[in-house]
Amino acid sequence: MSAPTSLILAGAEGNLAISKLYPALYRLHIAGLMPAGLRIFGMGRSGDGDAFVRRVRQAVAGAGGDWKAFAGRLQYARGDATDADFLRRVRQQLPDGEQMVYLATPPSIFAATTAALGEAGLAADARIVVEKPLGDSRARFDQLNSALLRHFAERRIYRIDHYLGKEAVQNLLALRFGNSLFEPLWNHHYIDHVQITAAESDGAGGRWSFYNSVGALRDMVQNHLLQLLCLVSMEAPARDSPDEVRDEKLKVMRCVRMPSREHLGDWSLRAQYGDGQLDGQKVPGYGREQDAGDGASDTETFVALRVAIDNSRWRGVPFYLRTGKRLARRYCEIVVQFKAVAHQIFRLPGDGTQNNMLRIRLQPDEGISLRLLNRVPGLDSQTRLHSLCLNLSRQADAEPAGTADAYDRLLLDAMRGNQTLFVRADEVRAAWDWIDAIRAGWQEAGQPLHSYAAGSWGPPRADAIIAAAGHAWHDSEAE
Ligand code: BG6
Repeated sequence: MSAPTSLILAGAEGNLAISKLYPALYRLHIAGLMPAGLRIFGMGRSGDGDAFVRRVRQAVAGAGGDWKAFAGRLQYARGDATDADFLRRVRQQLPDGEQMVYLATPPSIFAATTAALGEAGLAADARIVVEKPLGDSRARFDQLNSALLRHFAERRIYRIDHYLGKEAVQNLLALRFGNSLFEPLWNHHYIDHVQITAAESDGAGGRWSFYNSVGALRDMVQNHLLQLLCLVSMEAPARDSPDEVRDEKLKVMRCVRMPSREHLGDWSLRAQYGDGQLDGQKVPGYGREQDAGDGASDTETFVALRVAIDNSRWRGVPFYLRTGKRLARRYCEIVVQFKAVAHQIFRLPGDGTQNNMLRIRLQPDEGISLRLLNRVPGLDSQTRLHSLCLNLSRQADAEPAGTADAYDRLLLDAMRGNQTLFVRADEVRAAWDWIDAIRAGWQEAGQPLHSYAAGSWGPPRADAIIAAAGHAWHDSEAE
């Protein structure tokens, strides 16, 4: 696949384009990583070329660099992306070569847009990038996906999960598969449990009506958290190539135990935030904020789950997932907690449970650290241990290019034709099967909706899920 000569952006005036795509494209341009002649065609229903260029300029304000040269790449086409005649007119303006189409539009118009792209002859040589939500169930995903496949082959479809573009996620793979140190220990003999937390302090905000129709399980777990779960637990791929990596993730998804009625109540929790305090400010509960429809809602804004992976590597190792909005702080991390040494001869610090732990922090402050136990220096008659945190990333000398934003990497990979960090249809399908089963179980069992105060760490019951196996959520403030 050769580098595209045009990027056709549907939804050019939308929030995603403005907050993520233009800044990322501009950074790639400044870094000299964008294909030389690449033209960017923004498509939107209102506005004009000048207004478009002004909006893009605003979106990249303060970034320095050669704005004029970047502005020279921009072109605007006003019209309806689901109208094949409009797209034919756009096509006439495109330079020769391959196109990359980016659908930064609501999924409700995906099918109509892909059909119009096909009719206008814009699908044959193009690759297409699509954003979540990719359906809200397995059945809806299948519909949406068939609409895509009617015009684009799977190898030309780039399904974004922006968590896969985060630097720490790729570093996790480098650490696991580039070193001989961790892999022998990466199994149920040495790992006690794994925690994955994606906490947000923001509420549903301006996306309330969309968010309210999906909730935390479908908005965050179906995609981001399950992808992280797969990456942390998958086998080593035969090669660092798109299909090999995605095959291994898919194998994990197939081993994730389907929820049984018997376990669902103890292994899962759904909750919604109520009034509370965040950074010293009063915050209204879910459904009582501005933009919040009529207020009454049964949608969960917090989920905690205990997950079992039924394969020989992970037998008996619990994986805990939790995510929520309006929590005390925004952070996302994976914690791999190792078991204690079989026979400890030294005095341990604190409550004596500080075993080795690997933390992969996705945000803020991306990085990886390893907790080791070390001798307290001095002349004490007995050796005492204290814990020491080794930073395994962000070595200034090893990082000349700095840390890239997730969208920089994903856009660049799509331009280079590398699908490794994009999600394949069978992975999405397997994830939906699992999520659908949880939702059906919740419905059947009448799973209650707990509540938690905005600005807290979720409902107390979330602690009970993990405490049942003798564990506790890792305190994000602790080292
Ligand atoms: C999106 C969800 O996929 O991810 C949002 O739809 C969520 O609800 C966002 O806020 C979180 O992304 P990040 O990168 O800020 O953690």
